[in-house]
Amino acid sequence: MKVSGRTALVTGASSGIGTAVAQRLAGDGARLVLTGRDPERLQQVAERTGAKAVVADLTADLTADPADGVDALLDALPARPALVVHCAGVGAAGPLEELSPARVDELIDLNLRAPVQLTRALLPGLRAERGHLVFVASIAALGVAGEAVYSATKAGLRGFADAVRIEAPEIGVTTVLPGAVDTPYFGRRGREYDRRFPRPIPADRVAEEIVRGVRRGSVEVVVPRWLALGAKVHGAAPALFARASRRFG
Ligand SMILES: NC(=O)c1ccc[n+]([C@@H]2O[C@H](COP(=O)([O-])OP(=O)(O)OC[C@H]3O[C@@H](n4cnc5c(N)ncnc54)[C@H](OP(=O)(O)O)[C@@H]3O)[C@@H](O)[C@H]2O)c1
Repeated sequence: MKVSGRTALVTGASSGIGTAVAQRLAGDGARLVLTGRDPERLQQVAERTGAKAVVADLTADLTADPADGVDALLDALPARPALVVHCAGVGAAGPLEELSPARVDELIDLNLRAPVQLTRALLPGLRAERGHLVFVASIAALGVAGEAVYSATKAGLRGFADAVRIEAPEIGVTTVLPGAVDTPYFGRRGREYDRRFPRPIPADRVAEEIVRGVRRGSVEVVVPRWLALGAKVHGAAPALFARASRRFG
């Protein structure tokens, strides 16, 4: 899909990968609607990219605030988007038993329920526009120890994308599986990134792959690309994947 002159909605645009995607799409001439929680950071990105900013907490439906959440975002959209990039997401690190029930709900709500509900509501317009959906999942969709709930939300998102791709052949659907990316994500999930290898990649590298995936109509984008080997082993030999993962982390 060509993005020039088309309306694109980017969630999670106030930080990290979402900001980098917004900048790339603006450079390609898209008309942007950006959403995030932090009004100041979101406004700064919107000013740099000539976008409309819509502040929304996509978990707010859980707290039943009618002025916020997915429905409020939908009401505030100025036009029918032809491209939707679902970037908003949070992680949580640590043993499953130590995760509070509220944190479990927050992860499922933001990482899975919000993109599902937004997609459900926007799908008729996307079909009419012959548009494109991007789901920023994670390589954790294959299953990462110490990130069980996060992994579950990202695997759920990947499965959802796979089904929508078949159900709505008029539109493109790209799932993105990044490895470690240098953004505030790790600080926010409660544990900084502490592996020596692989080194986190810049957010703009993920954004570049996302925009290329939209242009080419890619089904799945793994970035960095060598991580696709892990996805292949996971698909072909899940027991071997689990053993290797336990051994090498
Ligand atoms: N960084 C990585 O290593 C990595 C790897 C694989 C996948 N990912 C995925 O990439 C996506 C973007 O993450 P990132 O690395 O760019 O992290 P980030 O810099 O922390 O950005 C997360 C974005 O999500 C938004 N967000 C958080 N809670 C929200 C809520 N309740 N309602 C609405 N928006 C909310 C944030 O808004 P505010 O800042 O305004 O609160 C921010 O714009 C996420 O889905 C993440 O799971 C990241």
